[in-house]
Amino acid sequence: MKIAPSILAADFARLKDEIDTVKEADWLHIDIMDGHFVPNLTMGPNVVKALRPHSKQFFDTHLMIHDPMRFIDAFIDAGSDAITVHYECLNNPQKVLKHIKARGIMAGISIKPETPVDVLEPLLGELDLVLIMSVEPGFGGQAFIEASLDKIQWLANKKVDANHTYRISVDGGIHEKTALQCINAGAEVLVAGSSIFNASNRSHAIRRLRHGR
Ligand code: DX5
Ligand code: ZN
Repeated sequence: MKIAPSILAADFARLKDEIDTVKEADWLHIDIMDGHFVPNLTMGPNVVKALRPHSKQFFDTHLMIHDPMRFIDAFIDAGSDAITVHYECLNNPQKVLKHIKARGIMAGISIKPETPVDVLEPLLGELDLVLIMSVEPGFGGQAFIEASLDKIQWLANKKVDANHTYRISVDGGIHEKTALQCINAGAEVLVAGSSIFNASNRSHAIRRLRHGR
């Protein structure tokens, strides 16, 4: 079980110190928003590059951007270990996945809450990571959408049936209770922003999410 603290909920004026407080988690989730695919803006590859020397964590970069092909290389050069793009903005998902994997890092696809999970069926054999959005992408601190559990379960069943190697990740509204539900459904990576960064003890919060209690 991997916990991926989302720095969207961190204090942006002190990002380096903020990531130090969550180093208990071996992944770090980095939300990139373009104000177009989602109604919010965050950061570019220069911020990822600036953080890279200060962390040994696996940089899990989530691109919520309309034209990911334009920026994938920049985010890989900046030090990302995985790049996840959104299914909803891809004309040729195979091409994008191939491009990311050819650069030697993990390739993921994410789907928004209204996108049915079975659209991913033809891609499952090529994916390293599948990211189920359990809130509408764009903002932290929203309530978990229960229907996400069925998507996680579907991916977990497919993984066993066909011996797929992708990791199942879930992003949005993850706190102790929803973490346990996601783990039981088959999630292997839990992305959490506010429940970790707003906790009085972030290490404890990470541990509680990991163990589902
Ligand atoms: C939302 C982002 C999430 C966000 C989750 O678009 O993709 O990673 O940080 O925040 P919480 O955990 O607060 O729901
Ligand atoms: Zn995210």
